[in-house]
Amino acid sequence: MRVLSGIQPTGRPHWGNYFGAIRQYIDLQENNDGFYFIADLHALTTVRHPDQLRQNVIDTALDMLALGLDPNKATLFVQSQIPEVTELTWLLMTGTPMGLLERCHAYKDKKEKGLSADAGLFTYPVLMAADILAYDSQIVPVGADQIQHIEVCRDLVGSFHHTFGETFVLPKAKTLDVGAKVPGTDGQKMSKSYDNTLPLFGDVKKIRKQIMRIVTDSRPMEDPKEPEGDHLFELYQLFATPAEVEAMAAKYRAGGFGYGEIKKAVAEVSETHFETARTRRDELEKDLDSVRDILDAGAKRAREVAAAVVDRARTACGLR
Ligand code: TYM
Repeated sequence: MRVLSGIQPTGRPHWGNYFGAIRQYIDLQENNDGFYFIADLHALTTVRHPDQLRQNVIDTALDMLALGLDPNKATLFVQSQIPEVTELTWLLMTGTPMGLLERCHAYKDKKEKGLSADAGLFTYPVLMAADILAYDSQIVPVGADQIQHIEVCRDLVGSFHHTFGETFVLPKAKTLDVGAKVPGTDGQKMSKSYDNTLPLFGDVKKIRKQIMRIVTDSRPMEDPKEPEGDHLFELYQLFATPAEVEAMAAKYRAGGFGYGEIKKAVAEVSETHFETARTRRDELEKDLDSVRDILDAGAKRAREVAAAVVDRARTACGLR
């Protein structure tokens, strides 16, 4: 199966990116043909500092490799190195109803807040559809927040086929039961734009401090409490074994312990969980040329696939 997904280099990947998406990339690279990319063209809608963008791209590649993405099993590349994708974006855009894009949440949220949006943000889902379609992708592993965009992609396939005949592979989103919507330090969805993220890498002491500052309700934890729906419990669940989760749930229900205790537990399990990846990242960082080689080789492979698909689409539309 062709599996494809992308992540924006808008900052450092966080727990939500890992548990919702990157963890799936790594599992799926075993028995599939995985194509994973760093969506720098998408990031241009928010990052307007060239040096920062360049650094974010390398950091994101390092993070993905350190977490276990294996370039011998999967293809890792940078979106903008495949110009065929932007060409396909145009072909798709000529048949995209405005109303479809007006309903998309990134644009809608910004507009509702009274902020002015640019055409890049408005047409963002079409570029994402081109990303998916350019590689004949069948499965797209993502967090819950991307499902709407994959639905738009499926709609665009339907209308393109209706107009020009069968051309693309119809993709399907894949989300996990636990991890599709990881909460942030304020209990809302963890997101770089809400400033509530917990990073995967970085200074352990600083991360511990961020965990200890996670917002909780004012009910005394000594009172018995339902674990379901509690964001600290949800975070704990991402790392702990089923037995540990059960034990923690029992503590919640019995009452008599403070939020500080579960915060400490989250800090400990998370540190242990990412320990190997942290060591691996330090190693990889010493040889950035190899990381660049991995990205170049990935782009070469991805471009061959995209060129054939986009050729198919060009012919279907009647272009020379
Ligand atoms: P991005 O960069 O916002 O996020 C990358 C992946 O992480 C997932 N994710 C989460 N999952 C669970 N809980 C959270 N709190 C959380 N926050 C983020 C996202 O769902 C995503 O899977 N538009 C995409 C990038 C993209 C893409 C594509 C994805 C561009 N082209 C083609 C798939 C296919 C985005 O902004 O992801």
